[in-house]
This record gives sequence, structure tokens and C-alpha cells, in this order.
Amino acid sequence: MLSTWLTRTLNLRAPIIGAPMANRSGGRLARAVTSGGGLGMIGAGSAATPAWLRENAARASTPDDATQGDAGDGERFGVGLMTWSIDRDRTLFDAVLAERPAVVSLSFGDPAPYVDDVHDAGALVMSQVNTPADLRLAEDAGVDFVVAQGTDAGGHTGVIGTLPLLQQVLDRASIPVLAAGGIATGRGLAAVLAAGAEGAVVGTALLGSPEADIPDGLRERLFAAEAEETVYTRAFDTAMGTPWPHRWGGRAIHNRFIDEWDGRLDELAHDGHAGDLVRAANRAGNPDAAGLYAGQGVGMLSDGAPAADVVARMATDAEALLGRRF
Ligand SMILES: Cc1cc2nc3c(=O)[nH]c(=O)nc-3n(C[C@H](O)[C@H](O)[C@H](O)COP(=O)(O)O)c2cc1C
Repeated sequence: MLSTWLTRTLNLRAPIIGAPMANRSGGRLARAVTSGGGLGMIGAGSAATPAWLRENAARASTPDDATQGDAGDGERFGVGLMTWSIDRDRTLFDAVLAERPAVVSLSFGDPAPYVDDVHDAGALVMSQVNTPADLRLAEDAGVDFVVAQGTDAGGHTGVIGTLPLLQQVLDRASIPVLAAGGIATGRGLAAVLAAGAEGAVVGTALLGSPEADIPDGLRERLFAAEAEETVYTRAFDTAMGTPWPHRWGGRAIHNRFIDEWDGRLDELAHDGHAGDLVRAANRAGNPDAAGLYAGQGVGMLSDGAPAADVVARMATDAEALLGRRF
């Protein structure tokens, strides 16, 4: 079994955290990742409510048939928050602490105002960082570990690739470092562990699993997508009026909506209908206009395997590769 700071600290069988993914990783996916040996996280986006969070935390912490009797499995989870969003209203943050998560992820902003409260609630703080300056901010805030999240990642991210960012962060960090962005098989996991990371945060590779919250039309689109079909865009945030700070765009599957609007964001911001169009497409699973966030690992998506199997296989394959090479 692979042993790293992450597995020893959280008592995991795989050095893998299931990425917090707003609208996609609810309690079911979080529980499945934990039962596969990693730690699953619920993605609480800026529109999530305390009631939604409570419901999903209950799902994440209830062992399913596959995990019953396996001490502790399926019962622990983490929650990921957008720091810029709780800066505007901390109701959701307080609701998260009440659910007793094992890890709280505070990314996309300065985590400093929240770290002590998370520690008082008995959880660890992780922060995804996109630049060496973000690393300094997170360390000064007193977070327990950081995730070097490269632009290869699905969803909101920075502009530096996973490997260039990971090398810089590993060289400079005085706290444990995980890697995220494009890690979709045992090969990717082995690579970042060999570089010195304590584990990986995996998102896109779990989107095809039945436990992810995703309409069938969008799941089918992901299975068909190749790595070169992702783009870094602000079109969906602009259309929906989501107040994301400008420095973070999101990596999504290219579609007709992006084609039409990506070069005309000022106009899009004043279009009265585009937000409704995207919302309707998200609900209906229409890939032509939905904001289908996914990373460059999308070309390696396994064909609908349960998330627990994806996680366990990734760890087993990485261990075999590392054993063979070192
Ligand atoms: C659909 C989707 C939604 C995401 N939502 C969030 C989020 O709510 N909070 C967050 O911190 N990161 C979010 N991310 C980023 C992930 O936490 C993680 O960094 C990323 O998935 C890792 O790269 P990968 O997708 O290549 O595995 C999201 C990613 C995806 C694909």
C-alpha cells in the first residue's frame, strides 16, 4: 500500500482526495471515493444552501452496503468552499463546520479569516493554490496542506500547468503538498508522488462514475471528448452573473455557446437571456450550451466505472509503477 503524509494523517488506503466539484460532487460521490480508499469531498459552490449541504453531508456519512462493516469507511468526508464566496456571506461556512467534516478546502481567495474556526471544529484545512504567491498566502494563513492546482484541471483554476506549478510549489513549501490537474490514471498519480507530492486531488476522472451528479447528456459528451477539446473560459460565469474574481477562469468542454460568446464577454454580461439559456442547458443535459467543466484528463475518462473502483485502481496502478521503477 502506498504510504504518504496524506494516507498516514487521514488513515487512507489511497493517497487520493476526490476533488470538491460544485454541482457534481455531492454526498454520493464523496462517499464512494471514501469507500474506495481515498477521501471524498462535497463541492459546495457559491449557490449552495445550508439545507443542500446538510442533505449531502448525511449522504456522505452514511455507509452504503458495499462499505458496511468496514470500520470507518464511507463515514468521513471533506467539503470544498470558494473563499471569495464565503467572504461575502459566511452562512454556508458555519453550516459546513456543523457537519463535522474531516477536511475543509478553502480555495480561490485568502483563507486566513477561517483557519482557526476550522481547526476548532476538529478539521484540517486544505487550500488549492495556482501560483507561488498563493502558496505564501496559504502558508501565512496557517493551512495544513496545499494543493498545487495546474491549469490542466477541470473547473476554475489558474494559468500555470500542473508540472511547472508543482515543481515550484514543492521547492518552496514548508507544509505538505498535493497535486491536481490532469491526474486521471495511475501513471499521473505515480508521477506526482515521485516528484514529492503527498497525494493527488482527482476530479475529472470521477465525472463518468454513476455517483457523480451529472445529467446523462453531459456524461455522454464527456465520454466522447478528447483532451484537446477543453478551453479556459469566463463565458459561463459572465452569462450567469456569478461574481468570480477575474483572475480565475474555468476549464470546460468546448461548445457552441463558448464559440458564440467567448470573444464578446462585455456584450454577454448585458445579454438578458444567455444566463437562462445556460441554466436550462445545464438542467436538460444539453452539451451545446451547458457549462460542462472538465479538465484535460477528460480523454482518459473510464467508461462509467464506480468511483470507488476508479480510486482503488489508480492507487494500485501507481504502486505497481513506482515499485517497478524505483
Ligand atoms: C466540474 C468541476 C467543478 C469544480 N468545482 C470546484 C469547486 O467547487 N471548488 C473547488 O475548490 N474546486 C473545484 N473544481 C476543481 C477541483 O477541485 C480540482 O482542482 C480539479 O478537478 C482537479 O483537476 P482534474 O479535474 O484534472 O482532476 C472543480 C472541477 C470540476 C471538474
